[in-house]
Amino acid sequence: MNGVPVVRPANAGDDAFIEELQAIAFGPGRFARTAFRVRERFPIDPSLSLVAEVDGVPCGSVWMTPISVGGINGYLLGPLATHPNFRKRGAGKLLAREVTRLALERGEGKFVLLVGDRDYYCPLGWEPTTPGAVQFPGPVDPARVLLAAADPSLAAALAGPIAAFKQG
Ligand SMILES: CC(C)(COP(=O)(O)OP(=O)(O)OC[C@H]1O[C@@H](n2cnc3c(N)ncnc32)[C@H](O)[C@@H]1OP(=O)(O)O)[C@@H](O)C(=O)NCCC(=O)NCCS
Repeated sequence: MNGVPVVRPANAGDDAFIEELQAIAFGPGRFARTAFRVRERFPIDPSLSLVAEVDGVPCGSVWMTPISVGGINGYLLGPLATHPNFRKRGAGKLLAREVTRLALERGEGKFVLLVGDRDYYCPLGWEPTTPGAVQFPGPVDPARVLLAAADPSLAAALAGPIAAFKQG
């Protein structure tokens, strides 16, 4: 019992926890969010669904959706949520970093895109994209469209509508 968050792959037994957590974190309006619309069109990758635990108690979750933009494969990160009782212990940042590392080290996608707060994600390595360049299936604040990639030029260069991840 040390109170430090750890992450592990999610399993079927986590489904109820994750659903409840997303409801608590994002409320009923979550189904109208533009990022939700992306996940309606393109399925999440269950092998990139992670859960954070503190002392064996699930407290956070993150999902990844494989996508492509401008012919380049990558991932959309989200939703990322930590239960209110477990916030400010590092679970959210650990989940974001770990799911990004796992996804990019597969070598099949070149970026991790998200819609989020610069103050939270930029210290973790995300960078602003060119406003309006990445087109979502609904309204987003262009200043919140952020990208992490090994290639430092990709955040400014990536452009086009969000489309399906291209297989093989
Ligand atoms: C955002 C969220 C995932 C952070 O989870 P967490 O486990 O508390 O995050 P961490 O412990 O890793 O980081 C906490 C730090 O980030 C800061 N922080 C939290 N949300 C922030 C935001 N939107 N912008 C800037 N900083 C933020 C906290 O103040 C805290 O700062 P401190 O370390 O100086 O005290 C959690 O607050 C949450 O689930 N919020 C509701 C859902 C949401 O907004 N998800 C993100 C959508 S992109």
